[in-house]
Amino acid sequence: MKKVTSIKEMQKIIKGFQREGKSIGLIPTMGYLHEGHLTLAKKARSQNDIVVMSVFVNPLQFGENEDLATYPRNLERDMQLAAEVKVDYLFHPAAEEMFPQKQAITMHVEERTERLCGASRPGHFDGVVVVVSKLFNIIQPERAYFGKKDAQQLAVIDLLVKNLNFPIELIAVDTVRESDGLAKSSRNVFLTEIERKEAAVLFESLQAAEAIITEGEKNTARIIDVMKTMLHEKTSGEVDYIEVLSYPELQPSDEVNGVIIIALAVKFTKARLIDNIIITA
Ligand code: PAJ
Repeated sequence: MKKVTSIKEMQKIIKGFQREGKSIGLIPTMGYLHEGHLTLAKKARSQNDIVVMSVFVNPLQFGENEDLATYPRNLERDMQLAAEVKVDYLFHPAAEEMFPQKQAITMHVEERTERLCGASRPGHFDGVVVVVSKLFNIIQPERAYFGKKDAQQLAVIDLLVKNLNFPIELIAVDTVRESDGLAKSSRNVFLTEIERKEAAVLFESLQAAEAIITEGEKNTARIIDVMKTMLHEKTSGEVDYIEVLSYPELQPSDEVNGVIIIALAVKFTKARLIDNIIITA
């Protein structure tokens, strides 16, 4: 595996492969890799000639009071893990390489962002689509891999690809979980020992919601209530949101019907965790 930090060098490498007619798969990440990221990479490995993983903590997608400075980083370990799953190139530009001056061209996502993390993190997805567009332009992949763990991000990237005509196939990968159900996340390291145990309740509450829907519950407010009570009683975290929406449009409705996302965000002392399930009601 080769590490590349220069955009110019990365573009030169990509041009070479394009001339040879090789397919390229891209996995955009912010690093501190775990089994979730590696599952995306394995999938990319099975579908492409060349696999590029980017590791870049994108300043544009962090709000003023968010964890940009403390976001966990460990490039040595990331390189080892990426090499183990046979990534060919790890693209790791410095912030000054990606943003040599203040980004003068901005983007604003008008749909699929009013709710969930879009509501509690204003500007977040505007920052995500800028960096992902830059990565798409630099790497020009045939396929790009995203996790359903960040289902709203996936819905927004789906819009990005369609609205801006990127000739890229999006591959959505199921959420990878710990044995107790907690979705793997780079931010899980910030949980205290007690919070780590409590965090399993996030997925339990999603499963409880699915169970009552399967039994016939249609009322959105009642579904949310069951989850709220469960999270309140079994964790010390503060519920940021619990929402049940259509997917991928992310529209609310009093009654569940069709493909829906049940999603939540819970704030613990030093980590804000998100999780979701997408089911057909
Ligand atoms: P990051 O949080 O590092 O996640 C990179 C990719 O890994 C995303 O597509 C995310 O959905 C996926 N992922 C994370 N945890 C997962 C899990 N437990 N199971 C399956 N997939 C998982 O998402 C970002 O970075 C950034 O916003 C980025 C797209 C790189 C733009 O900066």
